Amino acid sequence: AGSLRVALLGCGVVGTQVARLLTEHHDELAARVGATLEIVGIAVRNPDAPREQVTGTPLEPLLTADAEGLVARADVVVEVMGGIEPARTLLLSAIAHGASVVTANKALLAQDGPTLYAAADAAGVDLYFEAAVAGAIPIVRPVRESLAGDQVRRVLGIVNGTTNYVLDRMATEGLDLDVAVKEAQSLGYAEADPTADVEGFDAAAKAAILASLAFHTRVSLDDVAREGITSVTADDVASAASTGHVVKLLAIAERNRAADGTDGIQVRVHPALVPVTHPLAGVRGAYNAVFVEAESAGELMFYGRGAGGGPTASAVLGDVVSVARHRVLGGRGPVESWYADLPVLPATES
Ligand code: NDP
Ligand code: HSE
Repeated sequence: AGSLRVALLGCGVVGTQVARLLTEHHDELAARVGATLEIVGIAVRNPDAPREQVTGTPLEPLLTADAEGLVARADVVVEVMGGIEPARTLLLSAIAHGASVVTANKALLAQDGPTLYAAADAAGVDLYFEAAVAGAIPIVRPVRESLAGDQVRRVLGIVNGTTNYVLDRMATEGLDLDVAVKEAQSLGYAEADPTADVEGFDAAAKAAILASLAFHTRVSLDDVAREGITSVTADDVASAASTGHVVKLLAIAERNRAADGTDGIQVRVHPALVPVTHPLAGVRGAYNAVFVEAESAGELMFYGRGAGGGPTASAVLGDVVSVARHRVLGGRGPVESWYADLPVLPATES
């Protein structure tokens, strides 16, 4: 069996766990892929900063600040650094070098996914991003592949772990939002700038990605009507409880017909009062849950850990195995570059 060179871009909450899994399960992964997966380098901002030791083999000798040089010598590039730049340039460079790409970067995909999809298509390489939506939950693959022959009508759910954790702590412990956000940060759930979580940008990015896949169209962050949880107070949460409700930040994408007969999609993110008897009310802490309604499949429900290093690394590793298998066996994953533009209709609450 051969060997595949894996470049890791980022060694933070998620990257550390990806490195741990690639190292600890090296031989087992080789058996599953048909080639060994060798980490050839890990790009970070500061290679000299002290790092938590998570594997028997220290990661320090692999750390580099030269991300561009690293992607040029990899077969598989795993991007878990986040942000728009330099992540976009590095992924385009990786694709141009013929590397398969795995990313957890929902902000980048929601802002400029079509550029990456087109580049991957032109180069004939895989672009996989299961970890970009709802952490450990397999939701991208089902919507992107398993349901590709069905007609998805609606995708609805809780797709941000931080805000779900925060709302939960406000409800159960009466914590203020700021205190609960600090807890979510220390647990590794929040984005580098938690404003992305509490203002709903992260959920909106995930809603845009899911809507693109579900409706085979181009949806960007700007198409999503968005309201975060910053105006939700501990009193709001308490009075919701007194009427048998919980406050949840929901993401909703649906195919609809406007009053003028135009077919299009609506995508929105906003806090909602959910009756305690509804399955979404039981989604606690940093868990996520997504419902999908499709014409022939009917209703589907996906549930699991939506954030955190280990759960997210699980999704990343699944993608690494898929793209690595394609390199060994041939074949490639789905390509989104031919998507059409469906009209984005003004959001209405329903
Ligand atoms: P962290 O902030 O913990 O880690 C980011 C890592 O990337 C760090 O190692 C940092 O280097 C490195 N990095 C950042 N910018 C650069 C740069 N310009 N050049 C080189 N290296 C850089 O982030 P997370 O691990 O939490 O998140 C990573 C990605 O995964 C993001 O896209 C996020 O949205 C996504 N994600 C995160 C989840 C989570 O639960 N945390 C869940 C799902 C997706 P250094 O260590 O030197 O600072
Ligand atoms: N900050 C994100 C969340 C990480 O809390 O859901 C997972 O995408």
